[in-house]
Amino acid sequence: MRNPDVNTTIAPELSLKVDMNKFEINQREFENQWYTRVSQLISPEDRQYFFSHAVQRSRSGRMVSDTQVPGTPAAYSDPQMERLLESLLPLVEQIANRKLYPTYSYFRIYKKGDTLKRHTDRPSCEISVTVNLGHVAQSPWPIWVEGPHGNASIHLVPGDVVVYRGIDCPHWRSAFDGELAAQVFLHYVDQDGPRAEWKFDKRKRLGTVPNGKIHVSPNVHSTAEEDVLVGLLPDKKIKLDPFRARIWREIEADRSIPEIVEHSVSEFGLSHANAESAVMDFISLCNERGIVDI
Ligand SMILES: [Fe+2]
Repeated sequence: MRNPDVNTTIAPELSLKVDMNKFEINQREFENQWYTRVSQLISPEDRQYFFSHAVQRSRSGRMVSDTQVPGTPAAYSDPQMERLLESLLPLVEQIANRKLYPTYSYFRIYKKGDTLKRHTDRPSCEISVTVNLGHVAQSPWPIWVEGPHGNASIHLVPGDVVVYRGIDCPHWRSAFDGELAAQVFLHYVDQDGPRAEWKFDKRKRLGTVPNGKIHVSPNVHSTAEEDVLVGLLPDKKIKLDPFRARIWREIEADRSIPEIVEHSVSEFGLSHANAESAVMDFISLCNERGIVDI
């Protein structure tokens, strides 16, 4: 198997460029058949960055799988994928011809033999985008989508996407005969529709790395043993392992998230991709429980 390049660690600015003439066709297609393939929506540079990031995370052994594709690494709300989710919002809004809220991102690194059963998505997935980030395969692995006019087998090369109505269009894949396929799913809901309540997948915010400072809530303190954070209410407790305890001390010391991530790389031997996701998982948990304000 070819060894994908996973050396990129610095997140570039996304260079999204859109051919408006082509986009009008996509808008009409989406309206008529509830899905549309957009060729090369992601630039080669951006795609390579996200592909490397996904492969690097999958090699950690820290990703979990789900019941939909058992034994295949997957991740909800990866900070970089959430950034992609947010960045593509204006383009997806144009294709869907409506204002949208982003809900969540999810990615998988599929392996040989994987299949995806025919299914529809949950309420957060009113407008869904599946992105081919990269693969090690002889040919593209088609996704099947069923719209009001029948089924279509859609072939995506790296950088291509399909925008589809995830709740309304059943979709599936037959067995993958390549070695590896990195696919990210980006989900949105109509701001003026019945699923608007699923904005951010009912989280306080997306899982992107905060731009500004984070602040410890005034109602929070560490216990004498320094292994538990306690908020105003008993159910706001968070147990601290050594990794989380270290992050917490850095938050209290007013360090920036990039600084905390770099320290986690050097002190815990994590890759940049894993350090960032682990730090943001903890900070997002603290934010959901009212322990930090972002
Ligand atoms: Fe799905």
